[in-house]
Amino acid sequence: MNSTPELTERDFQIFRELVYRHTGIHLHEGKRQLVKTRLSKRLRQGGFPSFRHYYEHLVMDRTGEELSRFLDAITTNLTGFFREPAHFDFLKEELYPKIRREVEHRIRPASIVFWSAGCSTGEEPYSLAIHAMDHLGDLPGLQLAVHATDISQEAIRKAAKGIYPLSRVRSLPKSLLRRHFLKGTGPQKGLVRVKPHLRGMVRFQCGNLLECSLPPDEMDVIFCRNVMIYFDRESQHRALRNLVSALRPGGYLFVGHAESLSTNKLQMGLDYVRPSIYRKR
Ligand SMILES: C[S@@+](CC[C@H](N)C(=O)[O-])C[C@H]1O[C@@H](n2cnc3c(N)ncnc32)[C@H](O)[C@@H]1O
Repeated sequence: MNSTPELTERDFQIFRELVYRHTGIHLHEGKRQLVKTRLSKRLRQGGFPSFRHYYEHLVMDRTGEELSRFLDAITTNLTGFFREPAHFDFLKEELYPKIRREVEHRIRPASIVFWSAGCSTGEEPYSLAIHAMDHLGDLPGLQLAVHATDISQEAIRKAAKGIYPLSRVRSLPKSLLRRHFLKGTGPQKGLVRVKPHLRGMVRFQCGNLLECSLPPDEMDVIFCRNVMIYFDRESQHRALRNLVSALRPGGYLFVGHAESLSTNKLQMGLDYVRPSIYRKR
């Protein structure tokens, strides 16, 4: 017998509004089944007889804990190490040589600050730390920092642990794995953990892109990839305003390859560099 309660059209609408209000994510009509599947587990765990009962509990819960579980269930956290490699090639071929030149001419300090905005379970910010270490690590006194934020607390918890199944890193070069990952043994067999020197460089924090809680530093590079793709025009605009204000002049913003930002980038103070890459004026 199928015991999953029905998600009515009205139920879908009220969850949809709640998701939009808290995340900026616009769930279109076709996402009804997805919402039902993802929330069914919470209904079963909490013993709620219907989606409406669950909704009432969710909005009455003043601790914010249920909202956090709800957002964990609704957000899509798909990610991977060195995803969309053309972006990493751009850093290597364009940005790092420029930083090197500027450091040599004493125009800038030997430092680079990244923000992985919508970092999911951490693969993206760790990839940035690894990449910068491997290509700029020889600069004397290099200061390297990666800020990493996501609205999902569960994703941030996993990210901060830095533990992944071996299958997630199998395609990476062996020498890179040796330098930056520890292989699990005994009960940890089949897992890898990011080495402490990398974990120390990445600062994880739960944060909403639509709010103005920005990392403290001025960013050289922001990766906000495959996050705003789920936003409508209005949320994209709000998020972009926050991202641009966190960038230093000349800093770069990377979005996902499949994303087309509907907001007028020029008005936001961004110049187009190449598809999915923008530079702050
Ligand atoms: C598909 S993942 C992308 C991960 C990574 N950037 C990548 O491209 O591999 C999208 C992430 O954006 C996060 N997210 C969605 N809305 C957000 C918001 N308003 N503020 C911060 N993070 C958000 C989700 O929780 C999810 O982890």
